[in-house]
Amino acid sequence: MTRYLVTGGAGFIGSNFIHYLFEKFADDVHVINLDKLTYAGNLDNLKDVEKQDNYQFVKGDICDEKIVNELMPNVDIVVNFAAESHVDRSIGRPDDFIKTDVYGAFVLLEAARKNNIKKFVQISTDEVYGSILDGSFKETDVLEPSSPYSASKAGADRLAFSYFVTYNLPVIITRCSNNYGPYQFPEKLIPLFVTNAIEDKNLPIYGDGKNVRDWIFVMDHCDAIQFLIEKGQEGQVYNIGAGNEMMNLQITDFILKALDKPKSLMTFVADRLGHDRRYSVDTSKIRSLGWTPKHNPEQAMAETVNWYAENRWWWEKLKTGEYLEFYKQNYKVRYKTD
Ligand code: NAD
Ligand code: DAU
Repeated sequence: MTRYLVTGGAGFIGSNFIHYLFEKFADDVHVINLDKLTYAGNLDNLKDVEKQDNYQFVKGDICDEKIVNELMPNVDIVVNFAAESHVDRSIGRPDDFIKTDVYGAFVLLEAARKNNIKKFVQISTDEVYGSILDGSFKETDVLEPSSPYSASKAGADRLAFSYFVTYNLPVIITRCSNNYGPYQFPEKLIPLFVTNAIEDKNLPIYGDGKNVRDWIFVMDHCDAIQFLIEKGQEGQVYNIGAGNEMMNLQITDFILKALDKPKSLMTFVADRLGHDRRYSVDTSKIRSLGWTPKHNPEQAMAETVNWYAENRWWWEKLKTGEYLEFYKQNYKVRYKTD
């Protein structure tokens, strides 16, 4: 039985990955989920697995050496999802991004090398390359991250690589594009716009809405991670994406049509500072090993919209308290009042 340490497993992608592991391996896997439960961590995402004998939740910080050193001897594979992940929050207050995304990764890498971990997957992001107007980034391209979030992720990405080169730790680094699917915190574009539209609230589009992202269904991302654990080469970086590039305006249009809501909900607001125009990754490296995304984008996006429509219990309680404070602060400066 393979024993996983999934960090940040109560967040969006981490919780989907835990579901993925149990669907794929059933009883033949053991998962420890180490999560600090920040505003983005939510145990509701894992209600269906919480009582399983082969699942253990540990509330804790990846920066906390003591907890990490206690857990590490009991696992074979580490998948580090834990991070502060929202670009807008990193613009307002970068502190926690440096702490968790860089120092936290360091603490995990140190403990991993002392415990002969069989594989350490550092979940990086396509944002480490920065923006590209034409063409797509290859894994060997220079990193030019633009936000405190992506710069922190780039730091951890290279730190993980250094542990392969220096200590021979079996590291794999993944750089995936924008994910969508169930359990995504409603501050990110798709769940924010879907839930706002359901509530007949404005959809705040930054700038001209023509920024482009390559959207991948979260389960395809999870599948790619497990594929790389099995087939990836140690010390290598792999881009992951679905080749599904869309402008924010197209996403908005799709959501409004799917929910039969009027275009009048679209509200153009001031642009995000340092807003990357386009992300695009060349995924031929992972595809040459035999991986391809399995989900049809239009269908998976429609199902995602439906999931939020049918699971108001999940998101309604999240859009209160601290969330509203952040929302007000973020959009106060963004809404064009002049
Ligand atoms: P998320 O914000 O939904 O979840 C992050 C999780 O990490 C939360 O459960 C949070 O409680 C936990 N966490 C934060 N700080 C922690 C700490 N110090 N110790 C332990 N746990 C902590 O993020 P997500 O969208 O699921 O992203 C997961 C990972 O994937 C991140 O590393 C992110 O950079 C990367 N990524 C995300 C995307 C995307 O589109 N969402 C794309 C590519 C890569
Ligand atoms: O590319 C991978 C990255 O994708 C991950 O590393 C990040 O963790 C994840 O948050 C995501 O970053 P983005 O900044 O691309 O995602 P976000 O959902 O915040 O924004 C997507 C696009 O939508 C971007 O061009 C900004 C725009 N946007 C976003 C919000 C929240 C709006 O126009 N209005 C909004 O209210």
